[in-house]
Amino acid sequence: MENQDTPVPVPIPEDQPKAAEQVIDPWNVSGAVGEDGKIKPIDYVKLVEQFGTKLIDDALLERFERVTGQKPHRFLRRQIAFSHRDLEVILDKYEKKEPFFIYTGRGPSSTSMHIGHIVPFELTRYLSDVFQAPLVIMLTDDEKYLIGKNDLDVEEYEQFARENAKDIIACGFDIDRTFIFSDYGYMGGDLYRNITRISKRITRATADSCFGFTSSTNIGKVHFAAIQAATSFGSSFPEIFGTNKAQTAKIPCLIPCAIDQDPYFRLTRDVASQLNYSKPSLIHARFLDALQGPGSKMSASIDSSSIKLTDTPKQILKKITTYAFSGGKETLEEHREKGGNPDIDVPYNYLKFFLEDDDELAQIYTDYKKGTMLTSEIKKKCADVVSTFVTDFQGRRAKITDEMLDEFMKPRALKVHGQLSNTIL
Ligand code: TRP
Repeated sequence: MENQDTPVPVPIPEDQPKAAEQVIDPWNVSGAVGEDGKIKPIDYVKLVEQFGTKLIDDALLERFERVTGQKPHRFLRRQIAFSHRDLEVILDKYEKKEPFFIYTGRGPSSTSMHIGHIVPFELTRYLSDVFQAPLVIMLTDDEKYLIGKNDLDVEEYEQFARENAKDIIACGFDIDRTFIFSDYGYMGGDLYRNITRISKRITRATADSCFGFTSSTNIGKVHFAAIQAATSFGSSFPEIFGTNKAQTAKIPCLIPCAIDQDPYFRLTRDVASQLNYSKPSLIHARFLDALQGPGSKMSASIDSSSIKLTDTPKQILKKITTYAFSGGKETLEEHREKGGNPDIDVPYNYLKFFLEDDDELAQIYTDYKKGTMLTSEIKKKCADVVSTFVTDFQGRRAKITDEMLDEFMKPRALKVHGQLSNTIL
């Protein structure tokens, strides 16, 4: 991993704990704080060791390409989707033409999504296209209500869920293969049955040590772990997979998510064994850095930290020019002489996420490092690439109607390789 130790001057957002060690859990993301009081970039290799996951290596990517016949997505080629649990199990299933599904989700905390939120959904879209597998997207309006530090009521979170769902659909999901649900809207039935099967098997001690809960944590937040877990099981969705319990228990899922969600699924995998359900597999993505630099992720509540999906090209250029942390040198002369540091440079980092062409990206890396490419030039290039992405997104988003949303959110069998999901077993 490049330059993990290079401290960068990132202001610590108020809601992030100031800790010497890095903190990555479902509610906090912050790099370690150095002796100089500055946040360091997140050490992803250390996370893999701490969490007990595996790095996605070249051998696994080669197998992925061989089995699926598809070129790995740029996120996979560039170690943005960098870690996994049991991805091999899903590739085995795919090879044997046995059923599995894909599961991801989003906590709708406001109406405004930013480009960092899109990363796991773009990865999910790609995987669902490659595998042509049924896809379930969970909107955890209940979770966001339970953890909300404001006086918004339940109905407002339900509304955020609908608005976010339209943004998610605009990522390009296929209506024939995708079911989107919100917890408040869908809860009950077999999903709720599984939730209680799970919550009965997780003790307070286990939840406390996994999530850092304390005696002042509200009980809804503790229970929510079972809700996020239950969506991992095929038997939670009778409309999609039918009601034959012996068969639905054996349908595993693949969960593309940001690495901070891993604690939920560590627990889920333990409980799955006890219930004789297939364990979920996972692919973990890195975070898109905040504009202020590596070590903190984009935040929807800090406008200067993120590029919103509603920003115009002009706003995007302005934000990148004004706020994006640069790995360039202080003066033009020094930059030309010594070159910049792309590894800590936010515009370079965004290009790594959003520029498709590998050769062009490699050229930018070399030129910037040599000093032939200037900070103003890499910022301009970054703004162009991000603006194209956001403008394309907005074009698709403008076409999403409430009727389409209702269709995506209707519990139903999904299409898989021309068959209906509830007949694939
Ligand atoms: N807890 C997640 C969030 O706050 C939402 C979520 C639910 C999720 N299930 C998921 C994310 C599965 C990734 C994968 O955003």
